[in-house]
Amino acid sequence: MTLNVVILAAGQGTRMRSAKPKVIHELAGKPMLGHVLETARALDPTKIVVVYGHGGEQVVEAIGQPDLSWVEQAEQLGTGHAVQQALPVLDGDSACLVLYGDVPLIQAETLNKLVAETAEDKLALLTVVLGNPAGYGRIVKDAAGVVTAIVEEKDASAEQKQICEVNTGVMAIPGQYLSRWLGQLDNNNAQGEYYLTDLVAMAHQQGVAISAIQALSAAEVAGVNNKQQLAELEREYQHQLAGRLMEAGATLADPARIDVRGELNIGRDVVIDVNCVFSGKVTLEDGVAIGPNCVIEDSVIGAGSVIKANSVLEQAVIGASCEVGPFARLRPGTRLSARAKVGNFVETKKAIVGEGSKLNHLSYVGDAEIGVGVNIGAGTITCNYDGVNKFTTRIEDGAFIGSNSSLVAPVTIGSGATVGAGSTIGRDAPANKLTLTRAKQKTVDSWKRPEKK
Ligand code: UD1
Ligand code: CA
Repeated sequence: MTLNVVILAAGQGTRMRSAKPKVIHELAGKPMLGHVLETARALDPTKIVVVYGHGGEQVVEAIGQPDLSWVEQAEQLGTGHAVQQALPVLDGDSACLVLYGDVPLIQAETLNKLVAETAEDKLALLTVVLGNPAGYGRIVKDAAGVVTAIVEEKDASAEQKQICEVNTGVMAIPGQYLSRWLGQLDNNNAQGEYYLTDLVAMAHQQGVAISAIQALSAAEVAGVNNKQQLAELEREYQHQLAGRLMEAGATLADPARIDVRGELNIGRDVVIDVNCVFSGKVTLEDGVAIGPNCVIEDSVIGAGSVIKANSVLEQAVIGASCEVGPFARLRPGTRLSARAKVGNFVETKKAIVGEGSKLNHLSYVGDAEIGVGVNIGAGTITCNYDGVNKFTTRIEDGAFIGSNSSLVAPVTIGSGATVGAGSTIGRDAPANKLTLTRAKQKTVDSWKRPEKK
C-alpha cells in the first residue's frame, strides 16, 4: 500500500503574537513545518500535501520545496474540513497519514510503526496517555478495549473527561474510505467544526478495524501554540541532540549549553566547551576541541585543531592541527592549511593561508593568498578595497610582514621577503629582501614640553 501524507498547517496561530504564520517559526534554525516535512520524507510517501491558510505565500516561500502539493483552506472550519481540501490531489488508493505542521518533534520511528499498522481495512491512531488530558480529544473504548470513537473535550461527558488516553491528531486512514467518510462529516458539535476525529466512530460503525498505538513520549506529539511552548520544544530538541552527540563519543562540558541549528558531524574524541552555537552544516574531525562561546556556521574543522574561546567562524575550512582564537573572526572563504594559526582580534575573509603560517594578533586579512611558513605581524592590514573594487594581496612562502604594515592591493610580497614594521606597501616587494617605507627617526633637541599658564 502506498502512502500519502497530509500536513495540516492552516491554523492562524494567534497566540504566537506574530506577523509570521505559526508553522514557519523556527525550531533549531528551521521552520517547524520544515521539521515535519523532513520526517514525512523519511517515510518515503508518494505524495506530500500541505494544507495552508493564513499567510500562505509566506509559508510557501519559507519552505520552498518544489515537489510538494500546496492546498489552500481559506476558512478554518475544522481538521476534517482541512483534509477535505486535500482530497482532489490525493491518490485514492493510498493510505493517508495526517500530521500537524505545529507538532515539530514527531519521530519517523513512531510514524513507521503507525503506518505499518494501517491496512486496506484498518485505520491507525497515534495516542498518548497524559496526566492532565484537558483540552484534548479522548480515546473512547468499549469494555473489550476496542476503540469506538474520539470525543472532543468540549463535547465530552464528565465521565469521558476522566479518560487520560488522548488523540495526538496523527492518524492514518485507508484510502478506499477517505473520501466517503469525509463527505459524511457534519458540524453538529460544540465547536461547529468538521472534526476529522469523527472518522473514528464511522470506521467503528462500519466494522473497519481501528488500531491505537502510543507515542514514544509526550514531547514528540506536543504542539506549539505560543512562544513558551516553542522554547520548551527547542530545549527538548537540543537535549535530544546533545544526547546523540555524547552517544557518538563527543565530550560536552554541559549538554544543556550547546545549540545545534543544522547538522553537526563529529569524529572521535571531539570536545566542546559551554555555550557554543553550530549552524548550517559543520564538521568537527577527530580530536577537535572547541572552546567556550564559539559560533560556527557551515565550516569544516580539521583533525586535532583547536578553536579557542569566543571565536566566530562562517564558511571556513580549517586544516589539521590549526589554532584559531581566542576572539578570532573567520569569514566566508577562509581556508587554513595544516598547522596555521589565527590569533586574537584577527579578521579574515577569502583568505587562503598556507601550512604553518601565522596571523597571530590584531589583523585584517581579506582577499589574500598566503604561502607556507609566512609570519604576519600584529596590526597588519590588507587594504583590499579602494572604495569601488576589491584586489588581491599575495604573500609568498616564508615572507615576514613587520607589525602594523598596510599592504595596498593588488600587491605581491615575494618569497622570503621581509617588510619592515609600520610600512605602507603599494608596490611589489621583491623576494628575500627587506622592503620598508618608514620616515627617518629624528630627535628634536630644542623641544620643551608646554607648561601650564
Ligand atoms: C485536535 C483534535 C484533538 C486532538 C488535538 C491534539 C480534532 C477535531 N481534534 O484538536 O482530538 O486531541 O488536535 O492537539 O481534530 N487545522 C487546520 N485547519 C482547521 C483546523 C485545524 O489546518 O480548520 C490545523 C491546525 O493548524 C493544527 C491542527 O490542525 O495544526 C490541529 O488544530 P487545533 O485547532 O489545534 O485542534 P484541536 O482543537 O486542538
Ligand atoms: Ca491544538
